[in-house]
Amino acid sequence: MPTTIFSAMRPTGKLHLGHLLGALHNWVELQRTNRCIYSVADWHALMGEYEHPSEIRPFAIDMVKDWIACGIDPAQSILYVQSDVPEHLELHMVLSCLTPLGWLERNPTYKEQLREINTRDLQTYAFLGYPVLQAADILLYKADAVPIGEDQLPHLELCREIGRRFNSLYKREVFRDAKAVLTPTPRLLGTDNRKMSKSYGNTINLSDSPAEVTAKVAKMITDPQRIRKDIPGRPEVCNVYSYYQFLTPASEQQAVHQWCTQALKGCTECKAHLSQRLERDVLGPLREKRMALEKKGNYIQDVLRDGAHKARAIAAQTMAEVKDALYS
Ligand code: TRP
Ligand code: SF4
Repeated sequence: MPTTIFSAMRPTGKLHLGHLLGALHNWVELQRTNRCIYSVADWHALMGEYEHPSEIRPFAIDMVKDWIACGIDPAQSILYVQSDVPEHLELHMVLSCLTPLGWLERNPTYKEQLREINTRDLQTYAFLGYPVLQAADILLYKADAVPIGEDQLPHLELCREIGRRFNSLYKREVFRDAKAVLTPTPRLLGTDNRKMSKSYGNTINLSDSPAEVTAKVAKMITDPQRIRKDIPGRPEVCNVYSYYQFLTPASEQQAVHQWCTQALKGCTECKAHLSQRLERDVLGPLREKRMALEKKGNYIQDVLRDGAHKARAIAAQTMAEVKDALYS
């Protein structure tokens, strides 16, 4: 049996460079040697965005377009929308029955989000069960491994506990433990040096125009000691340099390191150069691929229909085993 990889993203906004380095590069790499299933978690999106759900669908299509432009290959991996496979909700219901309330109430991610997110009312019945639906996602495909960010580790632990509880209650080994695949690259910070996140307004989006990128990069914080062009800079403490490190070739990084530490170029020029490199090496090629996909009519919809069909075949098999374990 090949290794099954499962992961998902919520369609709640545009994808940015943080998604590219933190998830998508990893997803692309994994699909070469594994059976990969990548899901658009639109029910999870609804749990947070239920007051304004109309953008979820356009974001979903846009997100899959970005996935494919970044190298996720629908011929190798299964791409589909969660709500197109009704078995997710069916398994979610079964798992809800056997998940103790205390496990969910103790979940650190849940407590943190209730504390930190005050633009929306998340004190709902569904939101408490967010990790139960996530467990259903993973268990439905009996995933061996789940590429996720560190912030999702408590959810994966809950998933394992819920799966084990099912197996022990019904004395069947229906589910197996899924392990985390953490991204090797350290996190790319946002343009304000905080974590890159839509809610901080500090992202560089994969679909930003060259002018938008130039404006955002121009505002980035550099080495605070380098107040004049003739003072040498310290690339190690400069966020602009970390962008060079994560997104440009080694030769480029060496050149930047040299002009910075020897005070040969100023920060304004260094940033303008970064914008050009991002456009030439990263965002320009992505934009071209996205435009080519847009010319293909209903291509994304077709990919998702085909993906849902394949996903459903696996999901239905698991649900049959679940019902068998429950009732026979
Ligand atoms: N909760 C994940 C996030 O916000 C998205 C997600 C939903 C997910 N279901 C999943 C991730 C299953 C991995 C596996 O990033
Ligand atoms: Fe940062 Fe570039 Fe300025 Fe050096 S020259 S401090 S790397 S922006």
